[in-house]
Amino acid sequence: MNITNDIRYVGVNDHEIDLFEGQYVVPNGMAYNSYAIIDEKIAIFDSVDRRFGEEWLSNIKNALGERTPNYLIVQHMEPDHSANITSFANAYPEAKIVASAKAFAMMKNFFGTDFAERQIVVGENDTLSLGKHTLTFITAPMVHWPEVIVTYDSFDKVLFSADAFGKFGALDVDEDWACEARRYYIGIVGKYGAQVQTLLKKAAGLDIEKVCPLHGPVLTENLGYYLGLYNTWSSYAVESEGVVIAYTSVYGNTKKAVELLAEKLKEHGCPKVAISDLARCDMAEAVEDAFRYGKIVLATTTYNNDIFPFMRTFIDHLTERNFKNRTVAFIENGSWAPNATKIMKGMLEKSKDLVYTQTEVKILSSLNEESKNAIDSLAKELCE
Ligand code: FEO
Repeated sequence: MNITNDIRYVGVNDHEIDLFEGQYVVPNGMAYNSYAIIDEKIAIFDSVDRRFGEEWLSNIKNALGERTPNYLIVQHMEPDHSANITSFANAYPEAKIVASAKAFAMMKNFFGTDFAERQIVVGENDTLSLGKHTLTFITAPMVHWPEVIVTYDSFDKVLFSADAFGKFGALDVDEDWACEARRYYIGIVGKYGAQVQTLLKKAAGLDIEKVCPLHGPVLTENLGYYLGLYNTWSSYAVESEGVVIAYTSVYGNTKKAVELLAEKLKEHGCPKVAISDLARCDMAEAVEDAFRYGKIVLATTTYNNDIFPFMRTFIDHLTERNFKNRTVAFIENGSWAPNATKIMKGMLEKSKDLVYTQTEVKILSSLNEESKNAIDSLAKELCE
């Protein structure tokens, strides 16, 4: 695949993976992108997952013909991109490895060598000329690890963006970009909104026509759309109007309350209600929704004088990603000593800019007139 006259795609698709990064289901697989810039000198950008080394080296060979690469540019050391650095170094003993100082320190830890004889250490705004193409390296710490650099090619106006602007899904499957890019971003980079904002500010000074990320498709048109979503996500702003209801239910009584609330929200004109049964859904989808919409209802039972485990895990996922700037409501259920709302509020104590609804719903085992009325009041308050 040609990205420009001189830039070729040499990455791979993975349809074998069960859990990406050990936790994310990827029903449409995953792509580990790699690119070659073929100029007077040849640079390869990043390697691929451990299981695809041979395919990747063969893609490079096919793209280059008789020529061999001069540089491997290592933008990110997470093993989905770094696992085949050593096989590349062995296949092309003359090639130099270009990376940040932190990346070389990680190579020593991962591979037992930092390629001392062959390394070119780069930092902020350092450049590397390939001929027509001059590459400028831009540091992007914590997007999504500390060693990350992204690279701007001023000749083709391409930003090689590392994990930024990536998504779940292999490239041979056609699917909506935003849905799986959002789940990827919130799940994997969501904690580092401030660092993504810093990178977006650096990128704003560049004339970019194409973005080549390490996962997902090359972005070539309407770049303002993608940059706008990244700005929304990384600033923790509300992307869509609507209410998320995240719940757990042991015997179905909390679920009935959630269904009643969803019905009432629709009656009161709520534009969108997204419901997640935390014991059964893809937790990453529920977390994605929590960051997408402006309002969230947390409904759970008191359990072992704590809250039901899936809700505890869910709230941990939110707080560790700097959940903020949202309206939050609570529904608690308990048969003898309901305590869930107090515990959930305690878990959210350090989250900034949360507004709690005035209405809190308490259910004693199952819905009664009082709790039904409270649900109606909550629906009204959320739709105001
Ligand atoms: Fe795609 Fe942070 O690795």
